[in-house]
Amino acid sequence: MANNLKTDDRNLLFPGSNNTINGILENAPKDEPARQHYFLDALKEYVSGFSSAPCACVVTFGCQMNARDSEKLEGILRTAGYRNCADEQEADLVIFNTCTVRENANEHLYGRLGHLKSAMTKHPERVLAVCGCMMQESDEVEKLRRKYPYVDLIFGTHNLFAFPELLFHVFCKRQGVVDRLAGLDAQREVLVDSSQDAERMDKLLRYAGTDNSKDIRKLCRKPVISVWKDSSEIVEDLPSERKYPFKQGINIMFGCNNFCSYCIVPYVRGREKSRQPGEILEEIRRAGSEGVREIMLLGQNVNSYRGISTDGEKYSFPMLLEQADRLAEECGISRIRFMTSHPKDLSDELMEVMASAKHVCRQFHLPLQSGSSRILKRMNRVYDRERYLERAARLRETMPDISISTDIIVGFPGETEEDFLETLDVVRQVRFDAAYTFIYSKREGTPAAAYADQVPADVVKERFDRLLQLQNTIVSDNLRRRLGISAPVLFEEVSEYDPHMVTGKLESGITVHVQADPLRQPSLIGQIADVRLTECHGFYYTGELNGYI
Ligand code: 5AD
Ligand code: SF4
Repeated sequence: MANNLKTDDRNLLFPGSNNTINGILENAPKDEPARQHYFLDALKEYVSGFSSAPCACVVTFGCQMNARDSEKLEGILRTAGYRNCADEQEADLVIFNTCTVRENANEHLYGRLGHLKSAMTKHPERVLAVCGCMMQESDEVEKLRRKYPYVDLIFGTHNLFAFPELLFHVFCKRQGVVDRLAGLDAQREVLVDSSQDAERMDKLLRYAGTDNSKDIRKLCRKPVISVWKDSSEIVEDLPSERKYPFKQGINIMFGCNNFCSYCIVPYVRGREKSRQPGEILEEIRRAGSEGVREIMLLGQNVNSYRGISTDGEKYSFPMLLEQADRLAEECGISRIRFMTSHPKDLSDELMEVMASAKHVCRQFHLPLQSGSSRILKRMNRVYDRERYLERAARLRETMPDISISTDIIVGFPGETEEDFLETLDVVRQVRFDAAYTFIYSKREGTPAAAYADQVPADVVKERFDRLLQLQNTIVSDNLRRRLGISAPVLFEEVSEYDPHMVTGKLESGITVHVQADPLRQPSLIGQIADVRLTECHGFYYTGELNGYI
């Protein structure tokens, strides 16, 4: 930022550009994503003026949805001219893409922000952005504003696509121009924004007689904030950069309408919105043509996908999956996965489509949450224990080789020992191949947070350990049963622990390590090869390579 900064002068040239800030703002297209492509061009010009390409580090917390969102942020940054950087302490631009599903996710963010304080204050030219689910909570944004003044940009889940425009505003602020984000936020219901900074700037400038350049400079270091309450549109078609070139998440829907009583997701991700089937299929085709071998169709509750094609045809999830499978065959995609499915609307039709599909992995993530009908009711899950067991049994009947994984919450308010034993019983009956187990975390604003009968921490911990022990035994039993067989593995990376091992995934999602020359060409990474499973070690196998498929 210029040192002699005194005015909110929009006639300044935007750095690297022949256009003034005002000119750029006024000429911006109104439609999306054209508008963001336009701001991306301005950023590109700016960055190309640097003596060397700056580097950016995107840090992702939470689920597959966030991972996919981060790929979009990476794509935007790469197009703008930023290199990738793994070390947030060294990066010229850092983004924390946050999760808020459990309290520890929030604490984790504050820890990481704390660690960045010294690097950010030492290098005020750097940019620190925070986005994602946690930013949809206005209290958290307030806390960042008050306690973490070195954060430069805050945005939410609904306007992630507008990152180019928001970053443009960060750089404008550094030139001393504080905008109300009028173009971006017009006609939106905004949850939190930084428009008061623009008003304050107006006031400061009105006292032209006094030297208030220090105040102005301070104001210009305040974060650009734009968090929307909700949005009805879906903006795609901006660049994205895959973490692994051979696999990709594809959003099919956003948001959740279920309001499970413990869950904050519907409040921070908004109501369900399905993407058009044609757009999804096109994205799959593109991924295939770019060498992607595995896709994961993403939604909080894929079973309630309701897409409408451009000619008005209604699509259910089984219909979409069937078409995706056919398309995969055409465009060289070997594996299709999807998550997450809500048991309440897991239909026979979906199971039948899966059973006859060629490329849909025989893996099903079916969150149980609790095995007690009484607790499920209090969780507002809409199915009971019997219905869950029936759906799981039907899955196995339709596809005997299916691998079922689940999510379980321990210590939901009012959970008694009997309720917990019912959960253990379902775990024993279904014999999950993987279970993600969570200690209940109270989320302010959800109905369950107000329940009086929270379970004491020591009781929860003891139950959690018992569940883990049972589940670990089941997983290693399940693994042992498949020892000696050969199965296809998609190889993902050189093992973290041993540079002579390559790590991949079975169709079931289980990890397999094999000895392989890391220099072997063509590289195994991104390929599917047949592996004989020779040893199991708790959660994973080691195996021997049989050859390429
Ligand atoms: N406490 C603990 N676990 C939770 N989950 C969602 N909300 C909470 C909470 N408040 C778990 C559920 C869900 C997974 C993504 O996170 O099991 O399926
Ligand atoms: Fe949360 Fe329930 Fe929606 Fe899953 S289905 S995101 S647990 S409210």
